[in-house]
Amino acid sequence: MTARRSLSALPTPAALVDIEIAERNIQRMADRATKLGVRLRPHVKTHKCVEAARLQASAGTQAITVSTLAEARFFASAGFRDITYAVPLAPGRADEAAQLAARVDRLHVLIDHPDALQPVERAARSHGRRLSVFLKVDCGYHRAGVDPESDGALQLAARIASSAHVEFQGVLTHAGHSYACRNPDEIRAVAAQERDVTAGFARRLRAAGIQVLDVSVGSTPTMSVADHLEGVTEMRPGNYVFYDAFQSLIGSCALADTALTVIATVVGRYPERSAFVIDAGALALSKDPGARQVDPDTGYGIVQSLDRAVTWHHARIHALSQEHGHVRVDGGLPTGTFRIGDKVRIIPNHSCLTAALFDRYYAIADSAVEAEWTPVRGW
Ligand SMILES: Cc1ncc(COP(=O)(O)O)c(C=O)c1O
Repeated sequence: MTARRSLSALPTPAALVDIEIAERNIQRMADRATKLGVRLRPHVKTHKCVEAARLQASAGTQAITVSTLAEARFFASAGFRDITYAVPLAPGRADEAAQLAARVDRLHVLIDHPDALQPVERAARSHGRRLSVFLKVDCGYHRAGVDPESDGALQLAARIASSAHVEFQGVLTHAGHSYACRNPDEIRAVAAQERDVTAGFARRLRAAGIQVLDVSVGSTPTMSVADHLEGVTEMRPGNYVFYDAFQSLIGSCALADTALTVIATVVGRYPERSAFVIDAGALALSKDPGARQVDPDTGYGIVQSLDRAVTWHHARIHALSQEHGHVRVDGGLPTGTFRIGDKVRIIPNHSCLTAALFDRYYAIADSAVEAEWTPVRGW
């Protein structure tokens, strides 16, 4: 039997997934979905790898959400047969979507504008495949989606529902504004808005004689704290697999729930400035600024010891350049710590963005590498 690699032997920067923590997060969200009475369709954009998606599937769901067509193809090839592509479909890629739809049981795409419907219908017709379409609804985030109170929203839903070439699956929203919250109470209020606006829109469509099969909601903050999901049929959180420093600051998880970390090496030490430099910069951590509404001084991640036994809140990653992380230590650099060559663990601000920067993750258990997971990349 080959010896398992120790963490200190990994080349840095390296992305680690703590399998036990990820499994715990996966099971907890699966239990929440059961308790809330909805299907869980996890967004796999956070990890983009088959191994993690299989852990999610074994906790009870085969249906997934993806953020790129590359992910859709990758997971289809791995046997996932019910996929929602949850970004408004670009007209120029409708043919690809129709081709992929022929390889799986269900491929759901989403639109939020009448001009986007025709290309989907054309592609479905030319590939002889009825595509399933969600109408994206704006529940308050104001990124994408129809205004659920507008006449246009009702008219667009009616057009999709009466199309000879596509099927109207239902309404879908994402409460991305939950990321502006400062605590679980604020998140709960956004979760209620996400649920009520979307379920209310579904009721309005039904009252107009339009069949709505699914009412799909979900962000990790809202799904981590929502009290109930009456009127909703499915939830689509993604980040919860790994959680991150951002989620812990706004109160969707505890620091101990963070499953993705980056190992970095101290490559510069400057006691006169009470600072050190690590070999993890913006291309290893991402430049997500973190939950500054909670802590204006939050850096680009939380610094821990290699074994995660110690969290150094007084060491702030205050600046990132491409391959340098600049860490300032409040109160001076203690002798014997943060020496050249020492390794640290960083809990990233936004695990989805950080994970996307690595071409492999080291899946670890008991502080040693169990496996290497390879995510899909590209669009
Ligand atoms: C449409 C859609 N659904 C679901 C999610 C998952 O949300 P989270 O990343 O908070 O888990 C996202 C994330 O961006 C999204 O854009």
